[in-house]
Amino acid sequence: MWNILKSNNPLVNKLRPIGLLNMKFSFGGDMPILWQDKLNVGISFVDSQHQYLVSLINTIEAAGNCSLERDLFLTHLSQLEAYTHFHFDQEEKFQLENKYPHYESNKNEHINLIKQLAEIIETIKKETGESVRQKQVGKVFDFLRDWLIDHVIGEDMKMKGAFPDKSF
Ligand SMILES: [Fe+2]
Repeated sequence: MWNILKSNNPLVNKLRPIGLLNMKFSFGGDMPILWQDKLNVGISFVDSQHQYLVSLINTIEAAGNCSLERDLFLTHLSQLEAYTHFHFDQEEKFQLENKYPHYESNKNEHINLIKQLAEIIETIKKETGESVRQKQVGKVFDFLRDWLIDHVIGEDMKMKGAFPDKSF
């Protein structure tokens, strides 16, 4: 699945979040998540918020790569958690207002994703030692990447074309 997120196209690489352009990523050969058009669901606020979630997750990877203290690393995760709540609330409100047929399944997935994110934050909190180890950062990043992309491709993509009477 991740092949679609990596590109040798210089135009696509320009989409990397500001601040990450010249960084080297040392663990596991991972790269920041690169946004591609095929991830757009065609609803502007949803696509913008998904892109910002990608940016937050990439920042978490970059932060971990800087061997940040655990508490600072957790600050980034908390920021992601807060924005995720905001994004899911916005999506659910929009879906409810527009009588989206997959509203219930989407809401259930949101509950599950929030729970998974809270669990990974708790795992990091329990870590001993003052800094977050790179191996652990790699695991968190891989998890978050799956977590977000599964959400976008697996569930939110059902919104594409689901509101033919609306222009976004
Ligand atoms: Fe979403």
